[in-house]
Amino acid sequence: MEVIVLEGAADIGRIGADAVGALLARKPAAVLGLATGSSPLAIYDELATRCDAGLISFREARGFTLDEYVGLAADHPERYRTVIDQVFVSRVDFAPGAVQGPDGLAGDIPAACTAYEHAIHEAGGVDLQILGIGTDGHVAFNEPGSSLASRTRVKTLTRQTRIDNARFFGDDVESVPTHCLTQGLATIMEARHLVLVAMGRSKAEAVHQLVEGPVSALWPATILQHHPHVTVLLDDAAARRLQLIDYYRETYRSKPTWQGI
Ligand code: GLP
Repeated sequence: MEVIVLEGAADIGRIGADAVGALLARKPAAVLGLATGSSPLAIYDELATRCDAGLISFREARGFTLDEYVGLAADHPERYRTVIDQVFVSRVDFAPGAVQGPDGLAGDIPAACTAYEHAIHEAGGVDLQILGIGTDGHVAFNEPGSSLASRTRVKTLTRQTRIDNARFFGDDVESVPTHCLTQGLATIMEARHLVLVAMGRSKAEAVHQLVEGPVSALWPATILQHHPHVTVLLDDAAARRLQLIDYYRETYRSKPTWQGI
């Protein structure tokens, strides 16, 4: 796991966009895993800027989103599908239909989950998955207690996650859906490169557990310790509880230029 502590959102956006850019340069038809939430926004902004400038193109690429609320109307502004279109997909040059997400309005939810797993597999798997992390250590919507071998399925959101996400629902926790569809931890672990972003003090404990804690379903993100290629992009506030922070800083400072991200 490579831990990179950066000054702030702009640097995180730049390094994250560099990783996506390097992938697209060697594989224009790459499959990207897209996360919603505020953490990846700096990366999406930077990618949109580079796309506008003609430095990067998503024309041949495909995308799969991580998760979706169950039951939010198709025109609801907080539907993850709507959000990801707005903050990223519509701002770059993906071909129509190139980005898919789990269907939170499906009549047959288990069938929709199976179909989603199948679609990712048919596309050849995800090359680079962008991730955020919840304050309780969830990734996508794999809440504490999730099976570390889980696949795409329905989950019940914890009260904490609903409180955290109430800010998008007029600060009304009761308006936050109770259920979601989410890629499972095993699904996410199959992506070839995971780029996880965390910013702010509220993420410090989850980040400490992710990087340095014991692997446990109580902190679902800790399963990433078993992945061979993870890049964790942090600001100082999110990194403040890391025990080995000086070592991570030194490792990044002295990283050989040939090593790439
Ligand atoms: C949500 C999403 C996650 C996201 C997390 C953190 O619950 N399902 O995919 O990583 O919250 O969000 P944020 O980046 O806004 O802090």
